[in-house]
Amino acid sequence: MTGNEIREKYLKFFEERGHQILPSASLIPHNDPSILWTAAGMVPFKPYFTGKATPENLRVTTCQKCLRTPDIEEVGKTARHHTFFEMLGNFSFGDYFKEKAIPWAWEFVTSVLALPKEKLWVTIYMDDDEAFDIWHKEVGVPKDRIVRMGKDTNYWEIGVGPCGPCSEIYIDLGEERGCGSKDCAVGCDCDRYLEIWNLVFIQFYRDEEGNYSPLENKGIDTGMGLERVASVMQKVKTNFDTDLLREIMDYAGSLLKVKYGEDDEKDLALKVITDHTRAITFAIGDGALPSNEGRGYVIRRLLRRAVRFGRVLSMQDTFLHKVSAAVIKQMASAYPDLEAKQEHILQVIRTEEERFLETLAQGTEIIAKLTAEAKAAGNTVIAGADAFKLYDTYGFPLELTKEIAEENGLSVDEEGFTKALEKQRQRARSARQETEYLSERGVMYKALREELGVTRFTGYSLLEGKANIMAILKDGLQELSAEAGEEIELILDVTPFYAESGGQVSDHGHIVGEDFKVEIYAVSKPLDDFIVHHGKVIAGKVRRHQTVDVEVEGSRRQDVARNHSATHLVHKVLQEVLGDHVNQAGSLVEPDRLRFDFTHFAAPSPEELKRIEELVNNMILANLPVEAFETTLSKAKSMGAAALFGEKYGSNVRVVKMGDFSLELCGGTHVNSTAEIGLFKLVSESSIGAGTRRIEAVTGRGVLQYLEAKEEQISQIAKAVKATPSEVVKRVKGLQQSVKDLESELESLRSQLSRQEVASILGQAREIKGIKVLAAVVSAKDMDGLRSMADLLRDKLVSGIVVLGADNAGKVSLVAAATKDIVKQGVHAGKVIKEVAQVVGGGGGGRPDMAQAGGKDASKLQEAMDKAYAVIEGQLQ
Ligand code: SER
Repeated sequence: MTGNEIREKYLKFFEERGHQILPSASLIPHNDPSILWTAAGMVPFKPYFTGKATPENLRVTTCQKCLRTPDIEEVGKTARHHTFFEMLGNFSFGDYFKEKAIPWAWEFVTSVLALPKEKLWVTIYMDDDEAFDIWHKEVGVPKDRIVRMGKDTNYWEIGVGPCGPCSEIYIDLGEERGCGSKDCAVGCDCDRYLEIWNLVFIQFYRDEEGNYSPLENKGIDTGMGLERVASVMQKVKTNFDTDLLREIMDYAGSLLKVKYGEDDEKDLALKVITDHTRAITFAIGDGALPSNEGRGYVIRRLLRRAVRFGRVLSMQDTFLHKVSAAVIKQMASAYPDLEAKQEHILQVIRTEEERFLETLAQGTEIIAKLTAEAKAAGNTVIAGADAFKLYDTYGFPLELTKEIAEENGLSVDEEGFTKALEKQRQRARSARQETEYLSERGVMYKALREELGVTRFTGYSLLEGKANIMAILKDGLQELSAEAGEEIELILDVTPFYAESGGQVSDHGHIVGEDFKVEIYAVSKPLDDFIVHHGKVIAGKVRRHQTVDVEVEGSRRQDVARNHSATHLVHKVLQEVLGDHVNQAGSLVEPDRLRFDFTHFAAPSPEELKRIEELVNNMILANLPVEAFETTLSKAKSMGAAALFGEKYGSNVRVVKMGDFSLELCGGTHVNSTAEIGLFKLVSESSIGAGTRRIEAVTGRGVLQYLEAKEEQISQIAKAVKATPSEVVKRVKGLQQSVKDLESELESLRSQLSRQEVASILGQAREIKGIKVLAAVVSAKDMDGLRSMADLLRDKLVSGIVVLGADNAGKVSLVAAATKDIVKQGVHAGKVIKEVAQVVGGGGGGRPDMAQAGGKDASKLQEAMDKAYAVIEGQLQ
């Protein structure tokens, strides 16, 4: 059974039992700061288990891409460890529980996979008698094949969230795979008993502090590692030998000129390269990019580790992107979007590889130096500060420094490294103090929301309305009233004010009572459904529980809406012009301009940019209707709505539709029809990091301002060149021509002048011991001019030596040029110039026939020339 077949059979088995097959979620968890990666099949479903969101179907089955890095060092050394792997799972959100999950798992394993019952074992959580009874009485597993285990193995949890006791299915791979120990049994670390499936009985919620509370709806989360099961089905020793990985590994072997299976060390390298390349290929495909922080750092670390193992196999060049292409080829049938993103993925990998090879060259030198220094000083430790510097300035992962140090018999002061890192973080944090402070207030807002209830937002259709003041806050504390001049925060029961989110800036406006007025300059949404108005009382006294008129500044809102709607058009147009790999990486929507960041490698050409601008404007002129509606996520997706990286799981999403052209998940405010955007003008395009580009543009009134500024610029240029704006180009061309004419006239006058000078200078030549010697102070505009004059004079002398000196604004230039015949007689221009230069406080030298020098003291130029005669005379002795 191939990997693909197992995947299909699994999903189909559960589909037949009422489960909805969902596609794998992104490796980047959505809205879950407690974890960096989707590390298990249940991760995307946390809100369903807790009841925070309602799924469309209470039974779901998936094959989920997973990434885990804690065991990175084990990868390739063991038969089973991976950073990237696929997990098959079936889930129940408050629907069935153990009574179905257990018999189904057994049925699948024994009927579909047809694994021999007599080789199967199960484990259960210590006191889970319920599970015991189901396994034994209903399924018929003999008592002695059911092993009770502790919390360390049979309780499953992942950070904050749903968790519970679990039960696992093991297969006995035979005594010959065992460690031979007397105590070898299920749970032993050796290769004999292999866990193939974990059934988690979700019943608790673990909070940030580590407290457990029972969940209202119990659920099921199961996980079966696809690569493992494939190894069992294909009767191979390691996951790397399954069809899922073997082809990729063999391809890597062909690139690195290594045959798998001949040498353990080399096999290890191939396995690491294969595993890590799978991980970075999928992670980059899901929108992660290498960087020095968080998720990006994991990618960087995996990629760099793989490159290093390539170097162990003597690969000096970039190669990982080729392995990645093989990964995509292998996995594309199950993950078709990989193919669409192939170009982007390979580009990111190749660029990062190139960068790392440069870094490696630099860093390896530095580590070699550090190692040598440490050894010389009898030290066995590399200082934490040094390791940090390598990390910070050269992007050298700590692990890599450690590995290289270890190869040299040294260790790294990790504590020192952490200290240095922490110090740097603190610096960064104090720069962000303001936002940190706000986030500390989160607790206070949470309490307020509980007390006051949520804020109803009416701003999609209204710009004004009546509301009640629910709370007034000053410096984070509740007050009953506030006076003119005070800065406050207001909480209303209902508001048309849009709070900054999704890249769109907040509304401005006023909140007005009978005898007071508050100017609102910012609006935030610290929690879902909770809107905070930030403003200043500009007249009167505002009191709690008053009824007020709320007024959003309409023109600003409309400017923002124009820019926001334009970003949707830009997004879609970019995909049409540059390709499907383009994805939004960030955006900023302000009244004056919009900024749109997207994934793309090369700089778009001027033609492409023109085309982008033109297409966006076509869509504006087409006057497409803009509608927004709510629907379920899966419906939105099946309609083809664009979503940001990382899926959103909530029962309802808002979709913004522009004619048949664009469909995007979006919570922002928009124009009613694209024509309201007016006009779209690209203002700049630039790179903001590997594989990410930024467009800035203006719309509507912004375009008018842009045109006005351009016009003003032209009129200033026109004024400066004394022409009317329409004649500017002609005038500038005329000016350029006359500059050219003047320059050539100047040049001819100069050469005339120097010819005349040459004639008069030649008259100064002396004869010393039958040789013509000329040393003179001349005028030349630079060293080049002086040299060509010396060449000319030397030619005129036919046989002899010329020494010239010139004063260029206080800087002295000297040149000496001798004909070949007198060089043979012992004259050396280089030596002459050296001595002459000393007179004017300088130095220099050169060949026997040509030399030059500089000096500082122009007042001694004549003296220097006199010296030249003397030196040459000396050389002729
Ligand atoms: N969450 C469990 C695991 O990862 C079962 O899916 O093992």
